[in-house]
Amino acid sequence: MPAKPELFDQIDPAPRLLMGPGPINAYPRVLRAMSAQLLGQFDPQFRQYMSETSALYRQVFQTDNEWTMLIDGTARAAIEAAMASLVEPGDRVLIASFGRFGQLKTEIAQRCAADVRVIEAPWGQVFTAAAIEAGIKTHRPKLLALCQGDTSTTMLQPLEEIGAICRRHGVLLQVDATASFAGTPLPVDRWQIDVVTAGLQKCLGGPSGAAPITFSAQVGGHIRRRRHIEQGLQPSGYQPGSGVRINSNYFDLAMVMDYWSDAALNHHTEATTMLYGARECARIVLQEGLEACFARHARAGAAMVAGVEAMGLTVYGDKQHKMPNVVGVHIPPGVNGDRVRGALLRHFNIEIGSSFGPLQGKIWRIGTMGYNAREDCVLATLAGFEAVLAAESYPARRGAAVDAAMAVFGG
Ligand SMILES: Cc1ncc(COP(=O)(O)O)c(C=O)c1O
Repeated sequence: MPAKPELFDQIDPAPRLLMGPGPINAYPRVLRAMSAQLLGQFDPQFRQYMSETSALYRQVFQTDNEWTMLIDGTARAAIEAAMASLVEPGDRVLIASFGRFGQLKTEIAQRCAADVRVIEAPWGQVFTAAAIEAGIKTHRPKLLALCQGDTSTTMLQPLEEIGAICRRHGVLLQVDATASFAGTPLPVDRWQIDVVTAGLQKCLGGPSGAAPITFSAQVGGHIRRRRHIEQGLQPSGYQPGSGVRINSNYFDLAMVMDYWSDAALNHHTEATTMLYGARECARIVLQEGLEACFARHARAGAAMVAGVEAMGLTVYGDKQHKMPNVVGVHIPPGVNGDRVRGALLRHFNIEIGSSFGPLQGKIWRIGTMGYNAREDCVLATLAGFEAVLAAESYPARRGAAVDAAMAVFGG
């Protein structure tokens, strides 16, 4: 059968403004960096870009960890690589879950054949440090894993005290910062966090497909004990580690460490273009300044909240512990949430999100992050949102949302 002629059309994506919980529009600089020509993965210039990428991400993670690199894949690739490499079958893992992405970590730990225990906070809330310590005392895990921001509920778990608690009890701490990284403070060394993973598609303003990771020398030591190099790559004199072989080749961090280190031992073929993009994301954040970047996210998020509240809408969950870069908004009774989202996309080219599980059809999620944590994006979204809600007969005072948001931006 002849191929349809439209198969050969160039892609021509609509000029959407992505104001959901991620992905969001990429910084144009990131897209430009990603259009650069490929290099061989062992080309000295490319190896230099790799080591610069590590150095840049050390700054964003606020860490001295040597092991700071990228996992090729979306954010969950780094979560899974860390767990697959650290957790041996039967090891006890405690998940502190307060939303869908806690459930994701539970599932990943189960697939690593861990003895998984879960403590749960109701959706829309976070844990107290005391509740987490009590969970550790009850379950005595090797590893505690939790989100900093769980995008499904928009809650931000305070982490300042958790690292010290884990140290006191001899527990390793793994934090999923996919949705909060570069949008809110996460000083990895100061907060004594052993492993942190992220993704590009939220506050870093890049495409999904590379996942920054950092882990401590202690974690590196645990992983190195499980080093079993792939048969075709074993250097002469190679001695396998004494630990159990990691049950994944792709996510074998011992091999990824060899690949990123000066040993430059072959593993996967580095996703060159993703590395160019990830390197540019970090440069943008650091050139702006970490504190300035956090403040920009806080301001844009506060303006969005002021706007939706001025419309008479209600913010979901514990506002004290809300992520600055995404807000959950209750869908008012009688309003069809999906129809509103559809109309916003159709008339304004603006995308906002819904949520998952018990929150499906109950809340919208509106993001203000990365490239889109800007006044014009907030105001355009609120103006469009208000117009499509009016078409749904929702009684909001026209103009109030934009005025309230502009006031937050000081104008
Ligand atoms: C907190 C959190 N963790 C993990 C993920 C999974 O990321 P990915 O879809 O990039 O694998 C997401 C995605 O939205 C997230 O928000």
